[in-house]
Amino acid sequence: MASLKTGLYLGVCLCAWIITTADDNGVPRAENVRWVSLDFKTILNWTTEASDHVFTVRYSSDDSDWTDSDDCIRVSESECDLTHTLKPLNRPYSADIITEPAIMDYDISLEMLTHEYSSVFNPYLESNISAVNIIVEALDESTVIVNITDPLTSVHHYDKQLSLRDILKKDLKYKITYYKSGSTGKRDIISDTNMAVLSQLDAGQSYCFMAAAFIPSRPKRTQHGAWSVHQCIPGGKNNPVGVESWSLGGCSLHPAHSPLHHRYGDGPLL
Ligand SMILES: *[C@@H]1O[C@H](CO)[C@@H](O)[C@H](O)[C@H]1NC(C)=O
Ligand SMILES: *[C@@H]1O[C@H](CO)[C@@H](O)[C@H](O)[C@H]1NC(C)=O
Ligand SMILES: *[C@@H]1O[C@H](CO)[C@@H](O)[C@H](O)[C@H]1NC(C)=O
Repeated sequence: MASLKTGLYLGVCLCAWIITTADDNGVPRAENVRWVSLDFKTILNWTTEASDHVFTVRYSSDDSDWTDSDDCIRVSESECDLTHTLKPLNRPYSADIITEPAIMDYDISLEMLTHEYSSVFNPYLESNISAVNIIVEALDESTVIVNITDPLTSVHHYDKQLSLRDILKKDLKYKITYYKSGSTGKRDIISDTNMAVLSQLDAGQSYCFMAAAFIPSRPKRTQHGAWSVHQCIPGGKNNPVGVESWSLGGCSLHPAHSPLHHRYGDGPLL
């Protein structure tokens, strides 16, 4: 009896040993699997040892069945563009990267092949957002309009390329940070719309502005898009001409001092 048990244990051990070394026998596993996503262009990206194996990527959402990604069947690259596959956007997706021999072997079942899972990724909640373009215009000596252009995304609806606003709708706000030039004190406002009116600025003062997409419904880590360049208006009296801009160079991205929250989205703008 005792020897039978020992034999069984030994069998289990041998079996495990054979499975793990099979991977070392020239079948490269996908490693360092990660999602890279910007403005809803979503790429699954991995590293692997050089070999003549190919990869097939399948995906599933919410524990549904696995579906092969049409664009990534038996590919030799170590990346897979899933932008057009992961729809609807607001779902948690997992991917599975299967290593297959370069010459198709119909006797091998999928379950026997080496494969590697990705982490779970929700494009709607986790895709990074690039910097927006802003136009700053002085209306009078104490009022300024900040106009924000949505970045276009890589998502299409029929022939139309969707903007950030088309996708995020009311979930999309903008954070606008401004400061008097030369001063370190910064103020924040949150705008529900792409146009914000900032009034009660000190007359005759030069101010600088920057903006970023802000999505408070997302997890903290992914709420902020990249910041725009600074746009500054000179403080000349009754002479709101010219706008200077320069790109960010080592300034703090996180406005710290006494944030002032105004909402301009609901009332008339002008
Ligand atoms: C988003 O950007 C951050 C900072 O550059 C990066 O660490 C992260 O991997 C990016 N996430 C995605 C999904 O691309
Ligand atoms: C994975 O993504 C990183 C960052 O975007 C990129 O530098 C790298 O070339 C990608 N690797 C592959 C295999 O595509
Ligand atoms: C601000 O944006 C609105 C709507 O996109 C546009 O009609 C208006 O001309 C823009 N104003 C400036 C100063 O760019």
